[in-house]
Formats: sequence, structure tokens, C-alpha cells
Amino acid sequence: MKIKGVCTTLLTYVSLVAVAQAQKISVGAGQTIDPYHYTSFKYGHFKNGVVSCAHPLAAEVGAAILKAGGNAFDAVIATQWALAVVYPEAGNIAGGGFLTGRTSNGKLTTIDFREKAPAKASRDMYLDKNGDPIPRLSLDGQLAVGVPGSVAGLFETAKYGKLPMKTLIQPAIELAEKGFVLTEREAAQLNAAKLSFIRLNGTRKIPFLKSDTSDWKIGDTLIQPDLAKSLERIRDNGAKGFYQGKTAQLIVAEMRRGNGLITNSDLENYKAVERKPLHFTYRGYDIIGFPPPSSGGIILGQMLKMVEPFPLGYMGFHSPQSIHLMTEVERRSYADRAQYLGDPDFWNVPDSMLLSAAYLQNKMSDYDDEKATPSSEIAPGLAKQEEETTHISVSDKWGNMVSVTTTLNNLYGCKTVVAGAGFLLNDEMDDFSMKPGVPNLFGAVGGEANAIAPNKRMLSSMCPTLVLKNGNPYIVVGTPGGTTIPTSVFQNLVNVLDFNMPINEAINASKFHHQWLPDTLYMEKTFDQSVFPRLKAMGYSIALRGSIGKSEIVRYVSDEKSNFDKNYIEAAADIRGDDSVAGY
Ligand code: DON
Repeated sequence: MKIKGVCTTLLTYVSLVAVAQAQKISVGAGQTIDPYHYTSFKYGHFKNGVVSCAHPLAAEVGAAILKAGGNAFDAVIATQWALAVVYPEAGNIAGGGFLTGRTSNGKLTTIDFREKAPAKASRDMYLDKNGDPIPRLSLDGQLAVGVPGSVAGLFETAKYGKLPMKTLIQPAIELAEKGFVLTEREAAQLNAAKLSFIRLNGTRKIPFLKSDTSDWKIGDTLIQPDLAKSLERIRDNGAKGFYQGKTAQLIVAEMRRGNGLITNSDLENYKAVERKPLHFTYRGYDIIGFPPPSSGGIILGQMLKMVEPFPLGYMGFHSPQSIHLMTEVERRSYADRAQYLGDPDFWNVPDSMLLSAAYLQNKMSDYDDEKATPSSEIAPGLAKQEEETTHISVSDKWGNMVSVTTTLNNLYGCKTVVAGAGFLLNDEMDDFSMKPGVPNLFGAVGGEANAIAPNKRMLSSMCPTLVLKNGNPYIVVGTPGGTTIPTSVFQNLVNVLDFNMPINEAINASKFHHQWLPDTLYMEKTFDQSVFPRLKAMGYSIALRGSIGKSEIVRYVSDEKSNFDKNYIEAAADIRGDDSVAGY
């Protein structure tokens, strides 16, 4: 498939040469993809439609589906199936996620396919007899697994698409069967998880370990025959091909092999939920965000509304004044996350109050433009490793916009592969508050609102977001990154809307993050440190860390109302990974 021919490329990032003879993957309407030679494009602009996601092959699959006549919803479905194969650290069929969408006729929707606690889950299931958390019990192995939502979510999404699911899933099946070559980064990720894979899967043969357990290298081929069969059962039987029948049996058998709780009825009863999107304005733009059980939309809304009265654009990009203001609104929003947010099916989330002007004004009443406001207490630090989730942004020429963030939680989820089914399970249970005040993997604390209960969805930070300009399609954006997700989306939007940055610069710019507790301002290592003395003088305690987020953004470039033929769609993929755009 000649994606290259239609893409304006600013940066060619990956180009791999196969060690084996490639078999091409067919992707609808006579198109093919070569899983042994592919390139990552960091920016492109296109007439008809574009996908931006974490892996070049998955982006190519999505673009080919657009070219075959599919819309943005079709493309996101095919991209997500493909990511489940080529991006096993986070792309998944046994995780969960959130989708924010706009259809060509202007309907706004959010689809919640977050994992749920199994029916046998209980509030104190990760605590010892003294009431203390048992280390890693909510992160590793079968007990960490929430009832997966991704497959149900993709079938729920399909009602907005045009093409049959069989067409959308077939490229993923072939990628799993025939294999694809690993990038350097993927090889390194697999190697980093090697000891955990061995510890959590015993002597079983799993696709993510070489048979002699030697290290993966760039250019090696990853073939996943059991995963191909699992995907075929979905192709042939729909969502039931996952939640019932052989795959369900294999998941339940995997639960029994460890101390897992998921039963056949948990799987059969899982339903994705279409929810009313969060909708607020920022400087005249409409922002469409994800409501609880993600905290993402509310935190984003609070942060944007709290900076709105200030002339951020004039304060200057990454000036001490703008960093200070943005940090203070981050701090204030995350304090609310801990207190008020949880699964709305179980907990009364006061979302209108949290986004009301009076409430937010009051929250900013103690803002001092010279001094950091101390958080009330110090909590343990943010985990910096093993974070992995993935985001897909897609738009098409009809004005369909789709923003979806999906995850296994941390890198390769609970790192346990379902024997005979070839896919990894999530460790999303760690996103619950296992005990008031005890931080999770991302340092997030919580209490009653996010306590574990049977069939409850754990609170998330994922923040798939859309922006409309004068009511018309404008921006699709999102990112992985645990609790840093809403702050990255916030900074991406402010970079574009206030600092007028090109979209690729906006997402690639260094990021900073504050989440109330711990009372630390995290800055990416790449950050310009000349601002640090001023920030320290204001009272900030600064800690350097690795990447914050890995964003994907799409923007309609149009001066004329809904006239997509005369205009174009641009897209950028983050330089922090193998992320790539593809379109036509
Ligand atoms: O739902 C959440 O907020 C987390 N489970 C997301 C994890 C994540 O983003 C890890 N990645 N980078």
C-alpha cells in the first residue's frame, strides 16, 4: 500500500528491512500492507481521512480501511484490532477503554468499554489480615484482571461504521498469523518484561518469549498463531466469539490456573455502555470529553475553565508564569479526582457542580501568581516505569471524528497470557482505590467513590477528546500516560488554542505534570531547565522524569463551513514512540 505517495512526511522515523521473505497482508479493496517493511510518519496532511496511532502498521490498516470506503469509526475499529497484534504492550482484546465520537450528522457520543470488577471481587481483596496492601497483587497475575471490555466496545462502535466486522478484523488476523518485524523499541519493551513473563507464565510457551529466552532484536519476526485463532473466533461469531465459547473457556481456565476471579457469567454479562458526553466550552471552542468512570473529561474541563479567565497566550509558552498557573489548576483538579470521582453506576458523581463557574472560581480564590500553593500532605511518589496505554485519533472527509484510548493498564497488563488463546490480560483492578489514601501504580489516591465493589468500573484518567470550532469538526486528540493523561491533553490543547503552535510541535513539546499528591512538579527530562530557578523560588519541588504522554492529534484545516472537499485534514503522531500517521 503506497501510503508514502499520499503523505507529506516531515520525519521518517523507522524503516526496517526484513530478515524473512514477507507475505503481504490484504486489507480490503485489493490493497496490501507489507509487515516486513514499514515506515513511521510523524506528520501528514490528507484530503480524505487519516489515522494517528502508536504503530505504523496499525495506522496503515486504518488508512486502508478509509480508502476502501470505510468511515472513521470503521478505521478506528480496524486500527484497534491491528494494535492488539502489533502493539501487545497496550493494544489489546482483553483490556478496556473509552471512545469519544462525532458522526457526520453531528451526533456526539461516548462509548464506555472500561473493564469491570468480577462479581466475586470484594472491597479488601488486595489487603492482608492487618489491612495493608499486599504488594503487586493488583498488578501481576490473574487476580489483577478486570472483566475485559474491548471486544464489546468495538462491536458497540460498529453501529456507527459502514463496513462488515469481518473486513475490519481480517488484517489483524493476518498480521497475527503471518507475523511482522519488531521495531527497536518494541524489542526493548519485550526484553524489559522478559523476567515478568517468565515469572507469571511459568514454563508455558508464550509468543512474547523466544523459545530459547534470548533477547529480541530489531528486525525479528513476532508471530502469534493462538491470537490469530482467537481473532478468527470473533470474526466468525461476533462478540460471543470472545465472551462465550472456546475463548471464554480458556480465560476461565486461566483464572483457575492462578487466583483469578472471572467466571463465565462475568464474561457473558459484560456490556459496553453508551454514555452522554461531557460538553463544555473553552474560549468559544466546544470541547467534548469523556465522563465518569473516567476522570479525564472532568479534570480537563476543570483545568481549562480555571485558566480561561487568564491571558495564557500572552503569558508565553513555558514561561514561569504560564507553567505556574497551569500547575496550580492541575493541582486543584486532581484533588477533586481523589474525592469525588468513581463509577457513576455506583456513586453519585457531582459533575455539574465540579464544572460550574462558581465552584471553579472559588477553587482559584487562593491562587497567588507568585507562590506555589502547598498540597495538604505528601504521599508516595509517582511510578515512572511500566506505563503503557494507547490512543488512536481518526477523522474522515465526512466529518466523522473518533478519539479512543485503550489499555491493559501497565506495560503488557498483568503479563499473563491466556494459555491457548495467545493474548495478554489487563491489570486494571489496580485503578481502584484498594484502601483510602493508598496510591496506585500512578500515585493516584482515592476513597469511597472508587472503592472496589462487584461489577463496578474502576476510575480511569483516560481522556479521549474532540474539539469543535463554530460547531464544525476541528481537533481529535488523546494520549496514554496514566494520571498524566488529562494534563497532557490539557497542555496539547493549550499549546494549539492559546499558543498557536502547529499540531506536531504542540504534542511533541516537553510536558509537566502535577497531581496534587505527591506535592511534586514533574517535568520531562527534555524540559528547558532555565525556568527551574524561578519555579523553585515560587516554592515548587521539581522532579525530572521520562516521557509524559505519547499523543496523537488530528485537525481539520478549514476556513469554510463543512466544506471538506476544498480543505484538508492534518495529523501528527508523537515522537516519543514508533507512533505514525497514515491517510489518503
Ligand atoms: O485508566 C487509567 O487511567 C490507566 N489504567 C491508564 C494506564 C496508562 O495510561 C498507562 N500508560 N501509559
